[in-house]
Amino acid sequence: MASPAPSSASAPASHQLRLCHQLRLGWRRRGRGGAVGATFSVALLAAALLLALSYYASSPPTASSSALVGLTLVRRAKEKGAVCLDGSPSGYHLQRGSGTGSRSWLLHLEGGGWCRNLRSCASRQKSVLGSSRYMEHQIEFAGILSNDRFQNPDFYNWNRVKIRYCDGASFSGDVKDELQNGTKFFFRGQRIWEAVMGELLLKGLSHAKQAFLTGCSAGGLATFIHCDNFRALLPRDSRVKCLADGGFFLDVEDISRKRTLRAFYSDVVRLQDLGGKFSHCSQNMDLGQCFFPSEVVKDIITPVFVLNTAYDAWQVQHVLAPEASDPQHSWLECKLDIRKCDSDQLEILQGLRKELHDAISELKHKRNWGFFIDSCFVHCQSLNSLTWHSPSSPRVNNKTIADAVGDWFFDRREVKEIDCEYPCNPTCHNLVFSRPFKGR
Ligand SMILES: *[C@@H]1O[C@H](CO)[C@@H](O)[C@H](O)[C@H]1NC(C)=O
Ligand SMILES: *[C@@H]1O[C@H](CO)[C@@H](O)[C@H](O)[C@H]1NC(C)=O
Repeated sequence: MASPAPSSASAPASHQLRLCHQLRLGWRRRGRGGAVGATFSVALLAAALLLALSYYASSPPTASSSALVGLTLVRRAKEKGAVCLDGSPSGYHLQRGSGTGSRSWLLHLEGGGWCRNLRSCASRQKSVLGSSRYMEHQIEFAGILSNDRFQNPDFYNWNRVKIRYCDGASFSGDVKDELQNGTKFFFRGQRIWEAVMGELLLKGLSHAKQAFLTGCSAGGLATFIHCDNFRALLPRDSRVKCLADGGFFLDVEDISRKRTLRAFYSDVVRLQDLGGKFSHCSQNMDLGQCFFPSEVVKDIITPVFVLNTAYDAWQVQHVLAPEASDPQHSWLECKLDIRKCDSDQLEILQGLRKELHDAISELKHKRNWGFFIDSCFVHCQSLNSLTWHSPSSPRVNNKTIADAVGDWFFDRREVKEIDCEYPCNPTCHNLVFSRPFKGR
């Protein structure tokens, strides 16, 4: 994160393994009889291995099948304008469903922050978040994307797709001409969305009996933005719902009473010319306001599930206590490890929780919507087994997130779960960072 204001807010937990790769972080399990935790430094493979071990250690062995899924680049992407920030083709990973899941589709929109100006978008062009030239040829599917029924009981045999994020504005920009300032910039998230949907429809999505659009962090915001369009693309009699994970970003004042995220969004909206895109954007609104979920949801008619923690680690670090608003670094310890927050800081965190609850309570009148607001210090919880569904996953009312989301998707019950205040929930795995989420 650049000083004095974030130039590239990255929300890397949307890609949990990438996050582990970048940061040395530890999972700490708060047990009833004291902390039963191990904090460890991890590299990419070690993290994957440990997560797998912590899961398999206490669950029945399953037939092991490769969860690595190859990257497909969008065909004729340049012709369609469905390109990443640098002009390279966009892409996605598809794992086919089978048996009873063969006509069901789960899509996941990748997250990873936004870029607000040409400088930060230029550095993104040289990364997986701005160019398919840097994307992994294969990635692991875990959590809600897993094909393992013990890790992903309701969706494991569906067609599952992870759509890569490389446009810098939650799949929403559509600037016709490439901008040029020495280098070319392409702001084409909307066209990426359309081109990927076009291909998936041809691959069987158009015959779906049920479909679920999900996304995490900036991809969670993209899920709100595209949910109704997704519904419109699918057969009338199909069951279609959406899930936004860690995507309910709040328009709140930070610790120095500035609206840091609103100013940031205002730059993103201006840069990618999103002002005319949203019908909820009015003249008397600050441009940045248009991009907040609390505004975007006003237009949505398709059922949506909001999965969020009340103490979202990314929002605490970048929205509530951004570096520029904390020159004395008095929040540094607390931002890295929630157990180190003093009583004044905890009170401010409880204020953040209340802001989220107030925003969520406005959704209560929306028919068929659901939510799960836990009190763990994390960011994005659907993409790994430890937070999504395992014997040691966090629970609210004794339900894992996967239980709750499945119950809601299939109408097994109404799901409107709100956890008690931190630190009440002993099943949380609170993240411990060695430094804040970094920009790129
Ligand atoms: C264009 O590039 C020049 C030099 O690289 C830089 O000084 C200028 O600020 C850039 N313009 C914008 C709008 O970013
Ligand atoms: C909690 O759920 C587990 C399995 O999902 C079940 O075995 C256990 O009995 C439940 N506990 C309570 C207190 O309901």
